[in-house]
Amino acid sequence: MSDDTTIRLERFEPELIDGVPAPSTVDFLTAISRGFHESQLDADELKILAGLEIADNTTFTAVYDEAAVQPSLHAEAPVATYASFPGTLNIGGGNLMPVHQITSVTVSPTHRRRGLLRTMITEDLAVAREAGVVFAALTASEATIYGRFGFGRATQRARFTLKTHRGAPLRVETEGSVVAVAPDVLKKYAPAIFAAAHAHTLGSISATQFDVGQAAGQWEDYDSLKPVNNLRAALHLDAQGKPDGFMSYLFSGWKLDPPTMEIGQMCTVTGAARRELIAYLGAHDLVEKITGRGPVDDVLPTALENARAYKATAVGDHLWLRILDLETALTARTYGRDGRILLRIHDSLGMAEGHWELTVVDSAASVRRAPENSEPAASLDIRDLASLYLGGFSAAHLAAAGVLKIHATGAVQTLDALFATDTIPYCQADF
Ligand SMILES: CC(C)(COP(=O)(O)OP(=O)(O)OC[C@H]1O[C@@H](n2cnc3c(N)ncnc32)[C@H](O)[C@@H]1OP(=O)(O)O)[C@@H](O)C(=O)NCCC(=O)NCCS
Repeated sequence: MSDDTTIRLERFEPELIDGVPAPSTVDFLTAISRGFHESQLDADELKILAGLEIADNTTFTAVYDEAAVQPSLHAEAPVATYASFPGTLNIGGGNLMPVHQITSVTVSPTHRRRGLLRTMITEDLAVAREAGVVFAALTASEATIYGRFGFGRATQRARFTLKTHRGAPLRVETEGSVVAVAPDVLKKYAPAIFAAAHAHTLGSISATQFDVGQAAGQWEDYDSLKPVNNLRAALHLDAQGKPDGFMSYLFSGWKLDPPTMEIGQMCTVTGAARRELIAYLGAHDLVEKITGRGPVDDVLPTALENARAYKATAVGDHLWLRILDLETALTARTYGRDGRILLRIHDSLGMAEGHWELTVVDSAASVRRAPENSEPAASLDIRDLASLYLGGFSAAHLAAAGVLKIHATGAVQTLDALFATDTIPYCQADF
Protein backbone atom coordinates (compact mmCIF):
# COMPACT_ATOMS: atom_id res chain seq x y z
CA MET A 1 0.00 0.00 0.00
CA SER A 2 1.19 3.50 -0.72
CA ASP A 3 0.48 6.64 1.24
CA ASP A 4 1.42 10.26 0.71
CA THR A 5 4.85 9.84 2.32
CA THR A 6 5.85 7.53 -0.55
CA ILE A 7 4.99 10.07 -3.23
CA ARG A 8 7.89 11.84 -5.01
CA LEU A 9 7.51 14.70 -7.47
CA GLU A 10 10.22 15.38 -10.06
CA ARG A 11 10.58 18.10 -12.68
CA PHE A 12 12.83 17.33 -15.65
CA GLU A 13 13.39 18.08 -19.33
CA PRO A 14 12.73 15.46 -22.00
CA GLU A 15 15.97 14.04 -23.35
CA LEU A 16 17.32 12.24 -26.43
CA ILE A 17 20.59 10.38 -25.83
CA ASP A 18 22.37 9.53 -29.12
CA GLY A 19 19.03 10.01 -30.87
CA VAL A 20 17.16 7.69 -28.49
CA PRO A 21 14.70 8.97 -25.86
CA ALA A 22 16.03 8.58 -22.30
CA PRO A 23 14.21 5.92 -20.21
CA SER A 24 12.55 8.57 -17.99
CA THR A 25 11.29 10.35 -21.13
CA VAL A 26 9.89 7.08 -22.54
CA ASP A 27 8.18 6.26 -19.23
CA PHE A 28 6.66 9.72 -19.10
CA LEU A 29 5.37 9.74 -22.70
CA THR A 30 4.02 6.20 -22.30
CA ALA A 31 2.20 7.20 -19.11
CA ILE A 32 0.51 10.08 -20.98
CA SER A 33 -0.81 7.68 -23.67
CA ARG A 34 -2.09 5.40 -20.94
CA GLY A 35 -3.71 8.31 -19.09
CA PHE A 36 -5.67 9.34 -22.18
CA HIS A 37 -6.58 5.71 -23.01
CA GLU A 38 -4.59 5.87 -26.26
CA SER A 39 -2.65 3.11 -27.98
CA GLN A 40 0.98 2.50 -27.13
CA LEU A 41 3.47 4.52 -29.23
CA ASP A 42 6.24 2.51 -30.94
CA ALA A 43 9.95 3.35 -30.70
CA ASP A 44 9.92 5.61 -33.80
CA GLU A 45 6.88 7.50 -32.57
CA LEU A 46 8.41 7.96 -29.11
CA LYS A 47 11.54 9.38 -30.71
CA ILE A 48 9.53 11.85 -32.82
CA LEU A 49 7.43 12.92 -29.84
CA ALA A 50 10.46 13.37 -27.60
CA GLY A 51 12.05 15.52 -30.32
CA LEU A 52 8.91 17.68 -30.54
CA GLU A 53 8.78 18.10 -26.75
CA ILE A 54 12.44 19.16 -26.74
CA ALA A 55 11.79 21.62 -29.60
CA ASP A 56 8.92 23.14 -27.58
CA ASN A 57 11.13 23.57 -24.47
CA THR A 58 8.71 21.45 -22.49
CA THR A 59 9.23 20.76 -18.79
CA PHE A 60 7.82 17.49 -17.46
CA THR A 61 6.48 17.07 -13.95
CA ALA A 62 6.29 13.39 -13.01
CA VAL A 63 4.97 11.91 -9.79
CA TYR A 64 6.37 8.56 -8.66
CA ASP A 65 5.13 6.26 -5.92
CA GLU A 66 8.13 4.80 -4.08
CA ALA A 67 5.89 2.12 -2.58
CA ALA A 68 5.00 0.60 -5.96
CA VAL A 69 6.75 -2.72 -6.66
CA GLN A 70 6.73 -5.25 -9.52
CA PRO A 71 4.50 -6.30 -11.21
CA SER A 72 2.94 -2.80 -10.85
CA LEU A 73 3.70 -0.56 -13.83
CA HIS A 74 4.40 2.15 -11.29
CA ALA A 75 7.52 0.40 -10.03
CA GLU A 76 9.13 2.34 -12.95
CA ALA A 77 6.46 4.54 -14.45
CA PRO A 78 5.06 7.77 -13.03
CA VAL A 79 1.62 7.65 -11.39
CA ALA A 80 0.93 11.18 -12.65
CA THR A 81 2.14 13.35 -15.53
CA TYR A 82 1.99 17.09 -16.21
CA ALA A 83 3.84 19.16 -18.79
CA SER A 84 4.25 22.84 -19.51
CA PHE A 85 5.93 24.83 -22.26
CA PRO A 86 6.29 28.50 -23.23
CA GLY A 87 4.37 30.23 -25.99
CA THR A 88 2.72 33.55 -26.71
CA LEU A 89 -0.88 34.74 -26.40
CA ASN A 90 -2.37 37.51 -28.55
CA ILE A 91 -4.12 39.83 -26.06
CA GLY A 92 -5.20 42.35 -28.73
CA GLY A 93 -3.70 45.56 -29.99
CA GLY A 94 -0.98 43.50 -31.70
CA ASN A 95 0.40 42.53 -28.29
CA LEU A 96 1.83 38.99 -27.99
CA MET A 97 2.44 38.13 -24.32
CA PRO A 98 4.35 35.14 -22.87
CA VAL A 99 2.01 32.34 -21.83
CA HIS A 100 2.71 29.20 -19.82
CA GLN A 101 0.95 26.36 -21.68
CA ILE A 102 -0.11 23.31 -19.71
CA THR A 103 -0.71 19.91 -21.23
CA SER A 104 -0.40 16.12 -20.72
CA VAL A 105 -2.19 16.15 -17.34
CA THR A 106 -2.91 12.59 -16.26
CA VAL A 107 -3.25 10.79 -12.96
CA SER A 108 -3.41 7.01 -12.81
CA PRO A 109 -6.76 5.51 -11.69
CA THR A 110 -4.85 3.88 -8.83
CA HIS A 111 -3.90 7.34 -7.49
CA ARG A 112 -6.78 9.62 -8.48
CA ARG A 113 -8.53 12.05 -6.11
CA ARG A 114 -5.67 12.15 -3.68
CA GLY A 115 -4.61 15.66 -4.59
CA LEU A 116 -1.87 14.83 -7.13
CA LEU A 117 -3.23 17.19 -9.80
CA ARG A 118 -3.63 19.90 -7.14
CA THR A 119 -0.01 19.44 -6.02
CA MET A 120 1.38 19.46 -9.58
CA ILE A 121 -0.59 22.47 -10.82
CA THR A 122 -0.20 24.69 -7.76
CA GLU A 123 3.56 24.10 -7.69
CA ASP A 124 3.91 24.66 -11.43
CA LEU A 125 1.81 27.83 -11.50
CA ALA A 126 3.83 29.21 -8.58
CA VAL A 127 7.08 28.52 -10.49
CA ALA A 128 5.69 30.21 -13.62
CA ARG A 129 4.49 33.23 -11.60
CA GLU A 130 7.88 33.45 -9.90
CA ALA A 131 9.56 33.44 -13.34
CA GLY A 132 7.44 36.46 -14.32
CA VAL A 133 5.05 34.74 -16.74
CA VAL A 134 1.78 36.69 -16.88
CA PHE A 135 -0.64 34.02 -18.13
CA ALA A 136 -1.14 30.27 -18.03
CA ALA A 137 -3.40 28.50 -20.51
CA LEU A 138 -4.73 25.05 -21.29
CA THR A 139 -7.47 23.22 -23.15
CA ALA A 140 -9.56 21.04 -20.88
CA SER A 141 -10.84 17.49 -21.23
CA GLU A 142 -13.65 18.36 -18.79
CA ALA A 143 -15.06 21.79 -17.94
CA THR A 144 -15.30 21.04 -14.22
CA ILE A 145 -11.61 20.58 -13.40
CA TYR A 146 -9.67 23.83 -13.77
CA GLY A 147 -11.95 26.66 -12.56
CA ARG A 148 -10.90 25.90 -8.98
CA PHE A 149 -7.33 26.76 -9.97
CA GLY A 150 -8.35 30.14 -11.43
CA PHE A 151 -8.72 29.15 -15.11
CA GLY A 152 -11.68 30.65 -16.94
CA ARG A 153 -13.25 30.00 -20.33
CA ALA A 154 -11.60 32.61 -22.53
CA THR A 155 -12.29 31.52 -26.11
CA GLN A 156 -14.85 29.27 -27.74
CA ARG A 157 -14.73 27.25 -30.92
CA ALA A 158 -17.37 25.83 -33.24
CA ARG A 159 -17.49 22.54 -35.08
CA PHE A 160 -19.37 22.87 -38.35
CA THR A 161 -20.71 20.89 -41.24
CA LEU A 162 -21.25 22.34 -44.69
CA LYS A 163 -23.51 20.71 -47.26
CA THR A 164 -21.78 20.87 -50.62
CA HIS A 165 -23.85 18.77 -53.01
CA ARG A 166 -24.28 22.02 -54.98
CA GLY A 167 -20.74 23.19 -54.20
CA ALA A 168 -20.08 26.10 -51.86
CA PRO A 169 -20.56 29.17 -54.06
CA LEU A 170 -19.83 32.56 -52.51
CA ARG A 171 -21.89 35.75 -52.67
CA VAL A 172 -18.81 37.84 -53.40
CA GLU A 173 -16.11 38.00 -56.08
CA THR A 174 -12.93 36.12 -55.29
CA GLU A 175 -9.98 38.29 -54.26
CA GLY A 176 -7.17 35.77 -54.40
CA SER A 177 -6.57 32.28 -55.71
CA VAL A 178 -6.26 28.72 -54.44
CA VAL A 179 -3.57 26.29 -55.52
CA ALA A 180 -3.55 22.56 -54.79
CA VAL A 181 -0.24 21.55 -53.21
CA ALA A 182 1.35 18.40 -51.84
CA PRO A 183 0.88 18.43 -48.03
CA ASP A 184 4.66 18.28 -47.62
CA VAL A 185 4.89 21.76 -49.18
CA LEU A 186 3.15 23.15 -46.07
CA LYS A 187 6.33 22.49 -44.07
CA LYS A 188 7.69 25.51 -45.95
CA TYR A 189 4.61 27.78 -45.94
CA ALA A 190 2.69 26.94 -42.76
CA PRO A 191 5.10 28.54 -40.22
CA ALA A 192 4.80 32.04 -41.75
CA ILE A 193 1.02 31.71 -42.20
CA PHE A 194 0.59 30.48 -38.60
CA ALA A 195 2.72 33.41 -37.39
CA ALA A 196 0.79 36.01 -39.44
CA ALA A 197 -2.60 34.66 -38.29
CA HIS A 198 -1.36 34.57 -34.68
CA ALA A 199 -0.21 38.21 -34.90
CA HIS A 200 -3.59 39.44 -36.02
CA THR A 201 -6.03 37.16 -34.14
CA LEU A 202 -7.12 38.15 -30.64
CA GLY A 203 -7.00 35.10 -28.34
CA SER A 204 -4.60 33.17 -30.57
CA ILE A 205 -1.81 30.99 -29.12
CA SER A 206 1.43 30.47 -31.04
CA ALA A 207 1.73 27.34 -33.17
CA THR A 208 4.27 24.60 -32.51
CA GLN A 209 6.35 22.30 -34.71
CA PHE A 210 3.73 19.63 -34.01
CA ASP A 211 1.07 21.85 -35.68
CA VAL A 212 3.26 22.37 -38.76
CA GLY A 213 3.99 18.65 -39.06
CA GLN A 214 0.33 17.77 -38.60
CA ALA A 215 -0.67 20.26 -41.33
CA ALA A 216 1.95 18.70 -43.61
CA GLY A 217 0.79 15.12 -42.94
CA GLN A 218 3.93 14.07 -41.07
CA TRP A 219 1.72 12.73 -38.27
CA GLU A 220 -1.96 12.43 -37.53
CA ASP A 221 -2.09 13.29 -33.84
CA TYR A 222 -0.25 12.81 -30.53
CA ASP A 223 -1.52 9.24 -30.39
CA SER A 224 -0.40 8.39 -33.95
CA LEU A 225 2.89 9.88 -35.10
CA LYS A 226 2.80 8.07 -38.44
CA PRO A 227 2.59 9.80 -41.85
CA VAL A 228 -0.97 10.38 -43.09
CA ASN A 229 -1.13 8.94 -46.58
CA ASN A 230 -4.44 10.22 -47.91
CA LEU A 231 -4.03 13.85 -46.85
CA ARG A 232 -4.60 16.62 -49.42
CA ALA A 233 -3.65 20.28 -49.10
CA ALA A 234 -4.25 23.71 -50.61
CA LEU A 235 -2.68 27.14 -50.29
CA HIS A 236 -4.48 30.45 -50.64
CA LEU A 237 -2.63 33.31 -52.33
CA ASP A 238 -3.74 36.93 -51.92
CA ALA A 239 -4.22 39.26 -54.92
CA GLN A 240 -0.45 39.88 -54.96
CA GLY A 241 0.29 36.14 -54.98
CA LYS A 242 1.46 36.01 -51.35
CA PRO A 243 0.38 32.92 -49.35
CA ASP A 244 -2.10 33.95 -46.63
CA GLY A 245 -3.88 30.71 -45.79
CA PHE A 246 -3.66 26.94 -46.01
CA MET A 247 -5.77 23.90 -45.39
CA SER A 248 -5.11 20.18 -45.21
CA TYR A 249 -7.98 17.75 -45.51
CA LEU A 250 -8.93 14.09 -45.76
CA PHE A 251 -11.55 12.24 -47.73
CA SER A 252 -13.75 10.14 -45.47
CA GLY A 253 -13.85 7.19 -47.87
CA TRP A 254 -16.78 5.97 -49.95
CA LYS A 255 -18.34 4.02 -47.12
CA LEU A 256 -19.44 7.18 -45.30
CA ASP A 257 -22.77 8.55 -46.44
CA PRO A 258 -22.66 11.33 -47.57
CA PRO A 259 -19.06 11.34 -48.88
CA THR A 260 -17.26 13.93 -46.73
CA MET A 261 -14.11 16.02 -46.71
CA GLU A 262 -12.75 16.47 -43.19
CA ILE A 263 -10.62 19.56 -42.68
CA GLY A 264 -7.63 18.81 -40.44
CA GLN A 265 -5.53 21.92 -40.06
CA MET A 266 -6.70 25.19 -41.55
CA CYS A 267 -5.15 28.56 -40.87
CA THR A 268 -6.04 31.80 -42.58
CA VAL A 269 -4.86 35.37 -42.15
CA THR A 270 -7.87 36.97 -43.85
CA GLY A 271 -11.58 36.31 -44.32
CA ALA A 272 -10.97 36.05 -48.07
CA ALA A 273 -8.51 33.19 -47.52
CA ARG A 274 -11.01 31.32 -45.31
CA ARG A 275 -14.00 31.66 -47.60
CA GLU A 276 -12.06 30.96 -50.80
CA LEU A 277 -10.37 27.84 -49.43
CA ILE A 278 -13.80 26.55 -48.36
CA ALA A 279 -15.30 27.37 -51.77
CA TYR A 280 -12.44 25.41 -53.37
CA LEU A 281 -13.07 22.43 -51.11
CA GLY A 282 -16.81 22.62 -51.83
CA ALA A 283 -16.05 22.45 -55.54
CA HIS A 284 -14.71 18.86 -55.27
CA ASP A 285 -17.01 16.67 -57.33
CA LEU A 286 -18.63 13.65 -55.65
CA VAL A 287 -18.21 15.19 -52.18
CA GLU A 288 -21.42 16.32 -50.45
CA LYS A 289 -20.27 17.49 -47.07
CA ILE A 290 -17.36 19.29 -45.38
CA THR A 291 -16.59 19.11 -41.67
CA GLY A 292 -14.27 21.47 -39.84
CA ARG A 293 -13.73 23.85 -36.95
CA GLY A 294 -13.72 27.60 -36.71
CA PRO A 295 -14.63 30.71 -34.76
CA VAL A 296 -18.13 31.07 -33.34
CA ASP A 297 -18.65 34.12 -35.58
CA ASP A 298 -17.39 32.31 -38.68
CA VAL A 299 -17.59 34.36 -41.88
CA LEU A 300 -18.80 31.32 -43.81
CA PRO A 301 -22.62 31.52 -43.43
CA THR A 302 -22.49 35.23 -44.32
CA ALA A 303 -20.17 34.70 -47.29
CA LEU A 304 -21.97 31.68 -48.77
CA GLU A 305 -24.84 31.86 -51.28
CA ASN A 306 -26.59 29.27 -49.15
CA ALA A 307 -26.14 30.37 -45.54
CA ARG A 308 -28.11 27.36 -44.32
CA ALA A 309 -25.65 24.93 -45.88
CA TYR A 310 -23.40 25.85 -42.92
CA LYS A 311 -24.40 24.39 -39.59
CA ALA A 312 -22.54 24.78 -36.29
CA THR A 313 -22.89 21.30 -34.83
CA ALA A 314 -21.20 22.11 -31.53
CA VAL A 315 -19.97 25.24 -29.81
CA GLY A 316 -17.83 24.86 -26.74
CA ASP A 317 -15.06 26.23 -24.58
CA HIS A 318 -11.61 25.98 -26.07
CA LEU A 319 -8.90 28.10 -24.42
CA TRP A 320 -8.89 28.27 -20.62
CA LEU A 321 -6.89 31.22 -19.34
CA ARG A 322 -5.31 31.83 -15.92
CA ILE A 323 -4.10 35.32 -15.07
CA LEU A 324 -0.95 34.82 -12.98
CA ASP A 325 0.11 38.47 -12.72
CA LEU A 326 -2.97 40.66 -12.62
CA GLU A 327 -1.17 43.99 -12.53
CA THR A 328 0.88 43.28 -15.66
CA ALA A 329 -2.05 41.65 -17.46
CA LEU A 330 -4.36 44.62 -16.93
CA THR A 331 -1.65 47.18 -17.72
CA ALA A 332 -0.66 45.44 -20.97
CA ARG A 333 -4.18 45.34 -22.38
CA THR A 334 -5.70 47.96 -24.66
CA TYR A 335 -9.11 49.35 -23.67
CA GLY A 336 -12.19 50.52 -25.55
CA ARG A 337 -12.25 53.89 -23.80
CA ASP A 338 -10.90 55.76 -20.80
CA GLY A 339 -12.42 55.00 -17.39
CA ARG A 340 -11.83 53.84 -13.84
CA ILE A 341 -13.10 50.84 -11.92
CA LEU A 342 -12.39 49.34 -8.52
CA LEU A 343 -12.66 45.56 -8.39
CA ARG A 344 -12.59 42.99 -5.62
CA ILE A 345 -10.90 39.82 -6.96
CA HIS A 346 -11.19 36.40 -5.36
CA ASP A 347 -8.33 34.05 -6.12
CA SER A 348 -8.24 30.62 -4.47
CA LEU A 349 -4.46 30.45 -5.09
CA GLY A 350 -3.98 33.92 -3.61
CA MET A 351 -2.08 35.37 -6.59
CA ALA A 352 -4.51 38.20 -7.36
CA GLU A 353 -6.59 38.14 -4.18
CA GLY A 354 -7.65 41.62 -3.04
CA HIS A 355 -8.88 45.01 -4.22
CA TRP A 356 -7.56 46.48 -7.46
CA GLU A 357 -8.07 49.81 -9.16
CA LEU A 358 -7.80 50.03 -12.96
CA THR A 359 -7.52 53.51 -14.45
CA VAL A 360 -7.34 54.19 -18.18
CA VAL A 361 -6.37 57.74 -19.21
CA ASP A 362 -5.60 58.68 -22.82
CA SER A 363 -5.72 54.93 -23.63
CA ALA A 364 -2.90 54.16 -21.15
CA ALA A 365 -3.80 51.81 -18.31
CA SER A 366 -2.44 51.92 -14.78
CA VAL A 367 -3.23 49.40 -12.07
CA ARG A 368 -2.72 49.60 -8.32
CA ARG A 369 -3.70 47.57 -5.31
CA ALA A 370 -6.43 49.40 -3.41
CA PRO A 371 -6.85 49.28 0.36
CA GLU A 372 -8.77 46.28 1.69
CA ASN A 373 -11.41 48.56 3.19
CA SER A 374 -12.15 50.34 -0.12
CA GLU A 375 -15.60 49.98 -1.68
CA PRO A 376 -15.42 47.93 -4.89
CA ALA A 377 -17.80 48.66 -7.79
CA ALA A 378 -17.89 44.94 -8.63
CA SER A 379 -16.40 41.67 -7.43
CA LEU A 380 -15.56 38.48 -9.27
CA ASP A 381 -13.34 35.42 -9.22
CA ILE A 382 -10.05 35.55 -11.13
CA ARG A 383 -11.41 32.77 -13.42
CA ASP A 384 -14.24 35.08 -14.53
CA LEU A 385 -11.86 37.98 -15.07
CA ALA A 386 -10.07 35.67 -17.55
CA SER A 387 -13.39 35.33 -19.44
CA LEU A 388 -13.82 39.11 -19.49
CA TYR A 389 -10.16 39.84 -20.25
CA LEU A 390 -10.00 38.65 -23.87
CA GLY A 391 -13.47 40.01 -24.67
CA GLY A 392 -15.09 36.60 -25.14
CA PHE A 393 -17.72 37.23 -22.47
CA SER A 394 -19.19 40.63 -21.56
CA ALA A 395 -19.66 41.99 -18.05
CA ALA A 396 -23.42 42.06 -18.74
CA HIS A 397 -23.24 38.33 -19.53
CA LEU A 398 -21.16 37.51 -16.44
CA ALA A 399 -23.46 39.61 -14.21
CA ALA A 400 -26.56 37.89 -15.60
CA ALA A 401 -24.90 34.53 -14.90
CA GLY A 402 -24.40 35.69 -11.31
CA VAL A 403 -20.60 35.29 -11.31
CA LEU A 404 -19.93 39.05 -11.47
CA LYS A 405 -21.38 40.82 -8.43
CA ILE A 406 -22.27 44.45 -8.96
CA HIS A 407 -22.03 46.84 -6.00
CA ALA A 408 -22.26 50.24 -7.74
CA THR A 409 -24.67 51.54 -10.36
CA GLY A 410 -23.11 51.68 -13.80
CA ALA A 411 -20.33 49.15 -13.06
CA VAL A 412 -21.50 46.77 -15.82
CA GLN A 413 -21.53 49.60 -18.37
CA THR A 414 -18.08 50.82 -17.26
CA LEU A 415 -16.60 47.32 -17.47
CA ASP A 416 -18.14 46.67 -20.87
CA ALA A 417 -16.99 50.02 -22.25
CA LEU A 418 -13.45 49.31 -21.00
CA PHE A 419 -13.16 45.63 -21.97
CA ALA A 420 -15.09 45.66 -25.27
CA THR A 421 -13.09 44.23 -28.18
CA ASP A 422 -13.50 44.69 -31.93
CA THR A 423 -13.53 40.95 -32.56
CA ILE A 424 -14.53 37.80 -30.71
CA PRO A 425 -11.35 36.05 -29.51
CA TYR A 426 -10.42 32.84 -31.27
CA CYS A 427 -7.71 30.30 -30.60
CA GLN A 428 -7.24 27.58 -33.16
CA ALA A 429 -4.27 25.85 -31.51
CA ASP A 430 -4.83 22.50 -29.82
CA PHE A 431 -2.38 21.56 -27.13
C1 LIG B 1 -8.39 15.03 -14.18
C2 LIG B 1 -7.34 14.29 -13.38
C3 LIG B 1 -5.96 14.71 -13.89
C4 LIG B 1 -7.51 14.71 -11.92
O1 LIG B 1 -6.42 14.25 -11.12
P1 LIG B 1 -6.55 13.98 -9.54
O2 LIG B 1 -5.17 13.82 -9.02
O3 LIG B 1 -7.52 12.90 -9.30
O4 LIG B 1 -7.15 15.36 -9.02
P2 LIG B 1 -6.99 15.90 -7.51
O5 LIG B 1 -7.19 14.78 -6.56
O6 LIG B 1 -5.75 16.71 -7.37
O7 LIG B 1 -8.24 16.85 -7.46
C5 LIG B 1 -8.13 18.24 -7.30
C6 LIG B 1 -9.52 18.81 -7.28
O8 LIG B 1 -10.12 18.65 -8.58
C7 LIG B 1 -11.31 17.90 -8.48
N1 LIG B 1 -11.36 17.04 -9.67
C8 LIG B 1 -10.40 16.23 -10.10
N2 LIG B 1 -10.77 15.64 -11.25
C9 LIG B 1 -11.99 16.10 -11.53
C10 LIG B 1 -12.90 15.85 -12.60
N3 LIG B 1 -12.60 14.99 -13.58
N4 LIG B 1 -14.07 16.52 -12.59
C11 LIG B 1 -14.37 17.38 -11.59
N5 LIG B 1 -13.53 17.65 -10.56
C12 LIG B 1 -12.36 17.02 -10.54
C13 LIG B 1 -11.21 17.11 -7.20
O9 LIG B 1 -12.47 16.78 -6.70
C14 LIG B 1 -10.46 18.09 -6.31
O10 LIG B 1 -11.35 19.09 -5.85
P3 LIG B 1 -11.07 19.92 -4.50
O11 LIG B 1 -9.57 19.96 -4.29
O12 LIG B 1 -11.63 21.26 -4.79
O13 LIG B 1 -11.77 19.16 -3.44
C15 LIG B 1 -7.49 12.75 -13.49
O14 LIG B 1 -8.79 12.40 -13.13
C16 LIG B 1 -7.20 12.19 -14.88
O15 LIG B 1 -6.09 11.79 -15.17
N6 LIG B 1 -8.21 12.14 -15.78
C17 LIG B 1 -8.04 11.56 -17.12
C18 LIG B 1 -7.16 12.41 -18.02
C19 LIG B 1 -7.65 13.84 -18.07
O16 LIG B 1 -8.82 14.12 -18.30
N7 LIG B 1 -6.73 14.79 -17.87
C20 LIG B 1 -7.01 16.21 -17.93
C21 LIG B 1 -6.54 16.69 -19.25
S1 LIG B 1 -6.97 18.38 -19.53
